[in-house]
Amino acid sequence: MPASPQPPFALANLNGEITPLSEAKIPALDRGFLFGDAVYEVMWVNQGKMWLEEEHFARLERSLNLIRIHGVDLLKLAAKVYKTIEAGKFKNAIVYIQITRGAAPRSHAFPKDVTPLEFLFVQEFNDPYKEMREKGIYLLSRPDIRWDHCDIKSTNLLANVLAIQDSKDAGCQEVLFYLKDGTITESAHSSLFGVLDGILYTSPSSKLILPGITRNHLLKLISKIGIPIREKSLNTAQLGQITELFITGTTSGVLPVVAVDKNLIGDGKPGSITKIIEKAYWDSVKDWCQSADHKQDGSVI
Ligand code: PDD
Repeated sequence: MPASPQPPFALANLNGEITPLSEAKIPALDRGFLFGDAVYEVMWVNQGKMWLEEEHFARLERSLNLIRIHGVDLLKLAAKVYKTIEAGKFKNAIVYIQITRGAAPRSHAFPKDVTPLEFLFVQEFNDPYKEMREKGIYLLSRPDIRWDHCDIKSTNLLANVLAIQDSKDAGCQEVLFYLKDGTITESAHSSLFGVLDGILYTSPSSKLILPGITRNHLLKLISKIGIPIREKSLNTAQLGQITELFITGTTSGVLPVVAVDKNLIGDGKPGSITKIIEKAYWDSVKDWCQSADHKQDGSVI
């Protein structure tokens, strides 16, 4: 029998206790498990330091406030992440943080005197996107059947999971979500940008999309480069005229899209504006790595 692939090295930190990830145990009555009563963050660690750390913790604070989980000390939480990174001597890794409302007898309304559960893990990251960055990826369009608060980074991801599975079954790598009127919102676990008539478009910040940290970072870079950009949603009726598409996210960075539902975008190759933006993104990572506040030796992975 062929040996099953080794899972990547990972350490968990559950309410302050560091263990191998496979040994971390969440109580069965935890409301994150029972109700999806929880929010999360995913961060990239380069040379032992969290990329766009302040922005990710600010979004976590916003998500916690919106679902009314109180009493989480985010400075202490960041210190726990660093302790876990140091314990595993992680260099290039992914941090997953999940805060749930805590464990209590099952009842929908908020329990009294419950302590939030603080769970995180740090896992070695072997970039799976290298080839996709060169060749581009395929999207499958799916109706956006998510709820009315996609701006909260909630662990209720069933609609995203089902859509991604459909896209995988169709030989695609991500999803293009659209509303009933054709409005394109975003992807299942990425933000989405498109070029129409030489202008770059991405959905405006609203309850319909997650305020992507990579998206927001890129918006600043794009305005510096001087590429015309509008925070306005594209529509599925415009897909035939869209000349470039790309998705963005913490683990993927910038990924060119070359087809939607097997229909080529532009000439079916990563577009020139996409390449400029991708370069600007990696240059900004390089600048950060070489900046004084970067802990380690300043090399980019
Ligand atoms: N996904 N939109 C959605 C719906 C997402 O789930 C994500 C992130 C993004 C991109 O956000 P950011 O640039 O902050 O990573 C946009 C994470 C990585 C995940 O669920 O694993």
